[in-house]
Amino acid sequence: MTGDIHFNKQDFGDDFSWGVATAAYQIEGAVDEDGRGPCVWDKFANIKGKIKNGDNAHTACDFYHRYEADIELVRALGFKEFRFSISWSRILPQGFGEINEAGIAFYNRLIDKCLSLNIVPWITLYHWDLPQGLEDLGGWKNRNIMEWFESYATICAKAFGDRVKKWIVLNEPMAVVGLGYTTGLHAPGRKSIGNFLPVVHHLAMCQAIGGAAIRQNVADAYVGTAVSCSYVHAASAELKDIRAAKRADALMNRLFIEPALGMGYPIDAFGFLGNIKKYMHAGDAERLRFDFDFIGIQNYFSVVVKHSYFAPVVWLKEVPAKLRNVPVTAMGWEISGDGMYDILKQFSAYKGIKEIIVSENGAAFQDHVEANEIHDTERKSFYQEYLTAILKAKKDGINVRGYLAWTLMDNFEWAEGYAARFGLVYLDFQSQKRIIKDSGKWFASFLKT
Ligand code: NOJ
Repeated sequence: MTGDIHFNKQDFGDDFSWGVATAAYQIEGAVDEDGRGPCVWDKFANIKGKIKNGDNAHTACDFYHRYEADIELVRALGFKEFRFSISWSRILPQGFGEINEAGIAFYNRLIDKCLSLNIVPWITLYHWDLPQGLEDLGGWKNRNIMEWFESYATICAKAFGDRVKKWIVLNEPMAVVGLGYTTGLHAPGRKSIGNFLPVVHHLAMCQAIGGAAIRQNVADAYVGTAVSCSYVHAASAELKDIRAAKRADALMNRLFIEPALGMGYPIDAFGFLGNIKKYMHAGDAERLRFDFDFIGIQNYFSVVVKHSYFAPVVWLKEVPAKLRNVPVTAMGWEISGDGMYDILKQFSAYKGIKEIIVSENGAAFQDHVEANEIHDTERKSFYQEYLTAILKAKKDGINVRGYLAWTLMDNFEWAEGYAARFGLVYLDFQSQKRIIKDSGKWFASFLKT
C-alpha cells in the first residue's frame, strides 16, 4: 500500500498508547563504564565472524551519554511512550550479588527525563544481554537462573516501580533459545539441540516469576511479556505440509504464551516438547502460569513452511519470501499487513489474554542521505500498511491497546551489526549525528492530528 492513507490517530481511540521501543544493548554503548559488568553479547561480538562487518556495540548510539537529547527526539516524533530495557549487568555486574548503584542511578536519570517530558516509560527487564558471569555458570540452561532472575526483577521493581508502571518481563524468549542456545547465531553462541528444552523451560518459568515479582513490588503495575510471532501458512494442502505448519506455529507462536495462560506446552502439535517433563520439577506446571495484564506481540512478517526430511527434530523448512515473489524488507522478510491482522486474530482467540500491545513492529530498508534528508518511502508505506491492519483488527473487536514502533533510531541489530537500519531516526555512527527520516516525520504529523 502506498499513497493515501485512510485512517487517522483518532480512529485508534484516545486510550491507545503510541510509543517507540528500544533495547539497552542495541543503543547504550558505554559497555565498560560506571561499573557495568560484561554481558554475553560483549564476548560474542569479539569473536571473529559472528557479527556482520566485525561490528560491535561498544559505542552503539552512545545513548548512555546522549539519552536526554534522544528522549527529546521521542517527543519531537510525537510519541508519548518510550520503551527501553535494563542492562542486567549494569545493575548487577556479576548477575547476582552486589548492586552497582551507578547503574540504578543511570536508569533513574533516564526515567526522570522521560517523566519531565510527559513521556510514559516502559521497562523491559530482559532483552537478551545476559550477564557473562551467569553464562559462565550455564546461563539459561542452569535452573538457578530462576533465583537469579527473581532477585534481579525484584531489585528493578523496587528501584523503579514508584515511577514506572508499564513492565515487560521477557523480550522474545524464542529468539533467546532458538538463536542463542540452539543455532548459535546469537550470543552466547551455543549450538545444540540438547539445550533447547531446558532453556525453553527456564525462560517460561522466569516469565511467570518476573511477572509475580513486579506485581508484588510495584503498586498499580501494568505487567506483560513480549513474544515474537508470525502467522504461519502451509506451503500446500498436503497433510505433511499442514502438519509442518502446525509444528512451526507451536514453536513460533504458542510455545511461551500457552504455559503462561495455564495451558501447558503445545505438545499436541509438536510431540518433541513432551520431553520437557524431564526438566520440570514438582509444582512447575502451576508456577508457569501468570495472570498478565497484557501480552506484547512483536510481528514483522508472516511465513510459509513445508515439510522437510533434511531438518531433524522439527522436520520443516521455511519457503523464503524471495522465492515467493512477494515484497520484502532489507532483511528479506515478507511485508504483510494481512499477516499482522491474522496473528492479532490468532492471539485474540485466547480467552486468557486480556489486552494486546503491539510491542514492536518496524522495518529495515537501505537508507540514503540526500541533503540531510532520508526519503524512506518504503518504511513509511510499511508502517501505514501495518497500522491499517491493526486498525482493522481493532474495529473487528480485537482488544489491541497500543503500538510501539521498532525503533527510535538505527542501532546495533545483533548479528547484522549496523548494516540493518530500523530507525525512524537515521544515525551516522561516525559522528553520532541524528537525522529524522521521512518515516519519522510522517509519524510526527500523524500523531499530531
Ligand atoms: C526483535 C528484537 O526484539 C529487536 O531487538 C530487534 O532489533 C528487532 N526484532 C528487529 O530485528
